[in-house]
Amino acid sequence: MSGTARPLSPSLDIARRVAELRWRVADWRGQGLRVGLVPTMGALHDGHLSLVRGALGECDRVVASLFVNPTQFGANEDIARYPRDEAADGAKLAAAGAHLLYAPELGDMYAADHATTVAVAGLTDGLCGPFRPGHFAGVATVVTKLLNQATPDRAYFGEKDFQQLQVIRRLARDLDMPVEIVGMPTLREADGLAMSSRNRYLGEAERRVAAGLPRTMAAVLARLAARPLDVAGALDWGSGELARAGFARIDYLTLADPETLQPLDRADRPARLFAAAWVGATRLIDNVALMGGAPGAH
Ligand code: PAF
Repeated sequence: MSGTARPLSPSLDIARRVAELRWRVADWRGQGLRVGLVPTMGALHDGHLSLVRGALGECDRVVASLFVNPTQFGANEDIARYPRDEAADGAKLAAAGAHLLYAPELGDMYAADHATTVAVAGLTDGLCGPFRPGHFAGVATVVTKLLNQATPDRAYFGEKDFQQLQVIRRLARDLDMPVEIVGMPTLREADGLAMSSRNRYLGEAERRVAAGLPRTMAAVLARLAARPLDVAGALDWGSGELARAGFARIDYLTLADPETLQPLDRADRPARLFAAAWVGATRLIDNVALMGGAPGAH
């Protein structure tokens, strides 16, 4: 064990400096162990823990990172409001079986004069891109840094943020990073709402409205399966349903190609339905697969 990595719980060490992280990973590599990375911004829920479990199933050692990345928050998005509880997150990671928590300080992650940004063109033009200017460049930059710092064999991301997942896959490929990017299925609450750190912002009435998102998306998928050539009709109907369910604003409800993320006007091939909509002051996103005309499982 490194001289500086400190135990947060009997089974989970914490590294705050990249040198500590590198020391641990190099030690594991020297023993021939396979290393998995689960990047997070904390506020952990079962969806995150399913990534840890997925990593544990395929890797010998699992590092979870916790860093609330300022460069992916827009000017109108309140980073100060983002929930932070490192002790609670550490306890959850320890219980899930992670081996190391990497929780770097802001100044260690970004030098005061840092000047490099990773931008992935094309994939970020649509869906959330226009609504969150700069967001994906912030994500791509911090994920590139985390992958370079931890040098994992595999890194795990949730399909709930499907556009983010595709952006990360592309940057890893384009920058020749020797890592396998693994996408894991979205975990849902009993009423279908995708698990998200943002769900904790919802009041009781808003929470009921929020359940209308997966319900409406499932109904849109059923319409598309029945009438694959009438994508516009199904999306119009779905937007109306979301408004009637109480969503304050709908940023988009779009059927898109799962690889290119380009909008589709026919549902006669593998596709994904993507949505972003506001309940009060909370923006929710979700996506579900449409497999060759039949509604997907998640
Ligand atoms: O999905 C997230 O929690 C974040 O966007 C990530 C990938 C940890 C980068 O900050």
